Amino acid sequence: MIEKRLKTRSVNGTLALAQNIMELMLPAPRMVVLRGDLGAGKTTLVKGIAQSLGASADDVTSPTFTLVHEYQGTKLKVYHLDLYRLEKDEELLALGLEEMEADPNALVLVEWGEKFPSVMARARGQVVITLGEEPDERWFLVQML
Ligand SMILES: Nc1ncnc2c1ncn2[C@@H]1O[C@H](COP(=O)(O)OP(=O)(O)O)[C@@H](O)[C@H]1O
Ligand SMILES: [Mg+2]
Repeated sequence: MIEKRLKTRSVNGTLALAQNIMELMLPAPRMVVLRGDLGAGKTTLVKGIAQSLGASADDVTSPTFTLVHEYQGTKLKVYHLDLYRLEKDEELLALGLEEMEADPNALVLVEWGEKFPSVMARARGQVVITLGEEPDERWFLVQML
């Protein structure tokens, strides 16, 4: 297992660190669960990852209501899921999670994936985000199997 603990002090710091975190997730395809409370920085991390893959960062917003967003980079694609509002495993299947996971050129990044044991069982790793001592400080614990 690869385990790394990284700290940022600002949103821009997180956007910049995202490339390092993304590289720890490779090679694709990989499904990774992003954990942390509301406002921890999960979506910000995805934005940085999408940007580092050559996708337009402007497209990256929280898929709270749409559940899935897709960002096409130059080589790899990101599927960005937010399962906060999802209740049942069947809904997960309906979203097409299995197809996303099987896409050889994709990283599947899942906010609130820990709600579903079936997601945790298939995830290849997780990033656990916690607050630091200062208001804009964030810790990123990256654990890849
Ligand atoms: N170092 C940091 N990294 C990421 N976000 C930060 C940081 N410091 C402050 N923030 C703020 O925290 C919030 C993170 O929001 P978001 O990425 O949507 O979190 P989540 O998806 O985990 O709910 C934003 O309001 C952002 O401005
Ligand atoms: Mg979010």
